[in-house]
Amino acid sequence: MIIGLLKEELPERRVALLPEAVKTLTGMNIKVFVETDAGLNAFASNAEYEAAGAVIITKEEVFGSANFLIKIQQPVAKELGLMKEGQIFMAAFNPLINTGLVKDMCAKNITSFSLDILPRTSRAQAMDILSSMATVAGYKAVLTAANNLPKFFPMFMTAAGTVTPAKVLILGAGVAGLQAIATSRKLGAVVEVFDVRAAVKEEVMGLGGKFIDVEGATDDKAAGGYAVEQNEEFKKRQAQAIHDHAIKSDAVICTAQIPGKRAPLLLLKETVEAMKPGALVIDLAASAGGNCELTRDNETVIHKQIKIIGNSAFPADMPSDASKMFGKNVINFLKLMFTSKGEFNLNWQDDLVKGTCVTHNKEVVSERVKSVIN
Ligand code: NAI
Repeated sequence: MIIGLLKEELPERRVALLPEAVKTLTGMNIKVFVETDAGLNAFASNAEYEAAGAVIITKEEVFGSANFLIKIQQPVAKELGLMKEGQIFMAAFNPLINTGLVKDMCAKNITSFSLDILPRTSRAQAMDILSSMATVAGYKAVLTAANNLPKFFPMFMTAAGTVTPAKVLILGAGVAGLQAIATSRKLGAVVEVFDVRAAVKEEVMGLGGKFIDVEGATDDKAAGGYAVEQNEEFKKRQAQAIHDHAIKSDAVICTAQIPGKRAPLLLLKETVEAMKPGALVIDLAASAGGNCELTRDNETVIHKQIKIIGNSAFPADMPSDASKMFGKNVINFLKLMFTSKGEFNLNWQDDLVKGTCVTHNKEVVSERVKSVIN
């Protein structure tokens, strides 16, 4: 079995495996072919990959010789064209939304794995790219907020007077939201948090955030710890509570998502218009439609003196550590498929292997993906 590591297209600057991760694979007697300059934007040189035991070759050569292709983003058209029947492709390609790509890979008889649909069990934690990338995003979102705000985050008592701390409102307390709370608190802000899952209240308080209670949320245990869509009555109460807190905040950080669906709309235009001049919104849910009504993905909008930054790609701005974490997750996942001696064994009895597999033998394997394919 030969693993092929592919180079990403800008603006993606991460790479799925840094040389240290490649070294783990070559140490297991697995051959690794790396596309030329695959790690350059994450500050890993071809020479470092070679020192880790990899062979550097062109994209076409990787597709021509490797059996198991790995990258982060979905394949670009050229890569899809280069894929050969029977090859294995692994990335995080959002198959619940990119259903056209799923059909293409079925037709080409590609065995594909998408790490963003990895089942969320305790055994899966060490492979969970959504968690590790959400950690990066939550951290970077707060730094971006602090950098763009026309005031300090911490409280200061100086000879020139007392500066009050910034007020940060965080919508959604999943992995990104919890990291945003921790980072905001470290910078000295006062933090308020809203989530539909009451289960996170204790974690929020443990990190020094104040939890905003809104009665009557639907908390579906069958959704495996994820949020589910809420009823209209609750949405009205939620909108009012968010409005009341957002208009007193300096920064609102939006992280609320519902897997495979449009992100919940939580911050309405009229709320943004009632916010303090100079306040800002960072929307990590931008690529899923945004939590803020005025968000535009990959854009910064200034609406009546409120800056709205729509960015779901913060991990690409921190390529060193983000690649390091991504690579560690990938290696842990590959250890389900390779023995310590590097023998390949696709074990369909393993719930994580099966749950992450999107296509195999020209069929859709994942039940979650099946439910959205028509
Ligand atoms: P996510 O990225 O899917 O969503 C972020 C947050 O938005 C969630 O806390 C969600 O409840 C919240 N949200 C959704 N709709 C909302 C609304 N209308 N208003 C306010 N908030 C709303 O979540 P993430 O970070 O991926 O984690 C979701 C769950 O998965 C958590 O319980 C987490 O502990 C669990 N998890 C389990 C793992 C494992 O066992 N391997 C790994 C990572 C997370």
